[in-house]
Amino acid sequence: MQKLKKKQFHTRIINSELTHDIRKRVLWPHITNGDYSIQPDDIESTFHLGTYCQNQIISIGTFIKETNEKFNCNTQYRLRAMATDKGHQTKGAGRNLLLTALDILKKKKIMMLWCDARLNAIPFYKAMGMKSLRKIYQIPNIGPHKTMYIYLDSIK
Ligand SMILES: CC(C)(COP(=O)(O)OP(=O)(O)OC[C@H]1O[C@@H](n2cnc3c(N)ncnc32)[C@H](O)[C@@H]1OP(=O)(O)O)[C@@H](O)C(=O)NCCC(=O)NCCS
Repeated sequence: MQKLKKKQFHTRIINSELTHDIRKRVLWPHITNGDYSIQPDDIESTFHLGTYCQNQIISIGTFIKETNEKFNCNTQYRLRAMATDKGHQTKGAGRNLLLTALDILKKKKIMMLWCDARLNAIPFYKAMGMKSLRKIYQIPNIGPHKTMYIYLDSIK
């Protein structure tokens, strides 16, 4: 979890529209109406991160102030629509993005980050120090998921 961010990547806050291309190609190929936005995209407390490699966005994630009743914790954020472009996966871009998000959330005094994790993505979140709840549930059009989370005070 505490490995350093790789230098060839640079993560920064981006506009929600800049997430649409990777959302379309990597996450939601089933969408046919061309709308790759989600309702919380433009809420003031939401922020979007993009990880760049040579001026190209290769990884994205959207961070939403949303409480999950499964957790007894006041200040939570939810990660949605996290993805790395297919040709750039497993090279450290997702790590760079999530570490940047955790820094931002710590500065905002947020206590916990959670997400609905696709089963295929669980090894990534585990590698980042996140834990999972046991239950597996289906999300329509996408497949089985587990809830994963990390308390920010567990990060050194
Ligand atoms: C999950 C995803 C976002 C990870 O992004 P990434 O840029 O490939 O991840 P990184 O290269 O930064 O990997 C960080 C760590 O996770 C591990 N990891 C990533 N994907 C893994 C996998 N499928 N299996 C095992 N470990 C994995 C890496 O080995 C690395 O660990 P290490 O640094 O200890 O070696 C990316 O694979 C993806 O977009 N998948 C398809 C879309 C998706 O499922 N998104 C998640 C929706 S919940």
